[in-house]
Amino acid sequence: MNILLIGSGGREHALANALAKSPRLTKLFAAPGNPGMKDVECVALDVSDHAAVVNFCRLMSIGFVVVGPEAPLVAGLVDDLDKAGIKAFGPSKAAAQLEGSKGFTKDLCRDFDIPTAAYERFTAAEPAKAYIGKRGAPIVVKADGLAAGKGVIVAMNVEEALAAVDTIFGGAFGAAGAEVVVEDFLEGEEASFFALCDGERALAFASAQDHKRVGDGDTGPNTGGMGAYSPAPVMTPEVSERVMREIIEPTMRGMKARGAPYKGVLFAGLMIGPKGPQLIEFNARFGDPETQVMLPRVQDDLLELLLACADGALTGKPVNLSPQTALTVVYAAKGYPDNPERGTEIRNLDKAASLPGVMVTHAGTKAEGGKLLANGGRVLNVTAMGDSVRAAQSRAYEALAQIDWPGGFYRRDIGWRAVEREKASH
Ligand code: AMP
Ligand code: GLY
Repeated sequence: MNILLIGSGGREHALANALAKSPRLTKLFAAPGNPGMKDVECVALDVSDHAAVVNFCRLMSIGFVVVGPEAPLVAGLVDDLDKAGIKAFGPSKAAAQLEGSKGFTKDLCRDFDIPTAAYERFTAAEPAKAYIGKRGAPIVVKADGLAAGKGVIVAMNVEEALAAVDTIFGGAFGAAGAEVVVEDFLEGEEASFFALCDGERALAFASAQDHKRVGDGDTGPNTGGMGAYSPAPVMTPEVSERVMREIIEPTMRGMKARGAPYKGVLFAGLMIGPKGPQLIEFNARFGDPETQVMLPRVQDDLLELLLACADGALTGKPVNLSPQTALTVVYAAKGYPDNPERGTEIRNLDKAASLPGVMVTHAGTKAEGGKLLANGGRVLNVTAMGDSVRAAQSRAYEALAQIDWPGGFYRRDIGWRAVEREKASH
């Protein structure tokens, strides 16, 4: 089967590596793909032009399209492929509202008893401010729509929350800020949980934890994620079981009842606190960099699993995961997240990738004149496997030390919370 993978980041590079292992794969195409992808034909397709994607699929006899990022899902790429009779992995536009509209998701939680922070939705500043005054701080103010991860303000005092309302309604996030959700602050430890869904059924996939802040000790501005590890130690089998029963399964029922059955991967951002797991948000896609640590642990044929989601044919058979820990460190361009420097040269990647249990994926690189150049904020991911978080962490950092890239930086403490937990339990 010929496959087209949509996207260009580290997540898509990890997906390409996992799909390449399937005996069912004939040829893998990626649009636009990245220079790190081996045995993949990278094509310069405009993925926002759905007719062009359909034409390409017909021309190249593509049997399955795997969509990496959220934007094409929210734009309805899977719906248009479906209309053209082309099978795809990912939710429809209506189902992708679980990521595309925070208000939609909160209302679903309310209607289907899914544990989440108490909230209200607002289309004007004054009532939002009155509500904030009534609830007090800490409190969380969110732009309703997609805002590249920047539309959430966790306000530690009321003034900050009121200012956030003005920022969002003032147009800082464009149309994504036409509506605001204000919700209670949740206490606990954050974790990410992923389930595969076929419209009817959901199957637990894997868990991970990421580090969102740019600086060591989880300081500085938020980013797309500076590193991650899988499994998340806080996601014990009991907690995972509760997440399936209290959050994922009611969501599947709710989406069906709303006429938008959910197919694809459902990524739940969770707060694990005194009341048990609570939903912070859903994403309608795999996480980046969470995918880079989950996929190396998957011992089943990923292509078969993704096809089963699209075909409505998931079985109840649990996903076979390696008990090892995978840990990934993001190597970012200096200046990230505000102003990453582009065009600096990267050397010695092969040296890092040749270490046992180590994988290097590209997230924002460009090949030019025989050189590899930085071409984005998050540029590389160095992933290592180990029998403990500590072991995976030391391997990843050993591999990073092999890379010669003066234009980049990385956090030195990815996995610190899990390493401390390991130390405490010994
Ligand atoms: P989101 O984009 O909704 O995942 O929010 C980004 C980050 O803001 C989350 O990863 C949390 O760290 C934080 N956050 C969002 N909502 C809440 C909440 N209700 N309570 C505490 N922290 C939150
Ligand atoms: N790492 C968080 C995300 O993919 O949204």
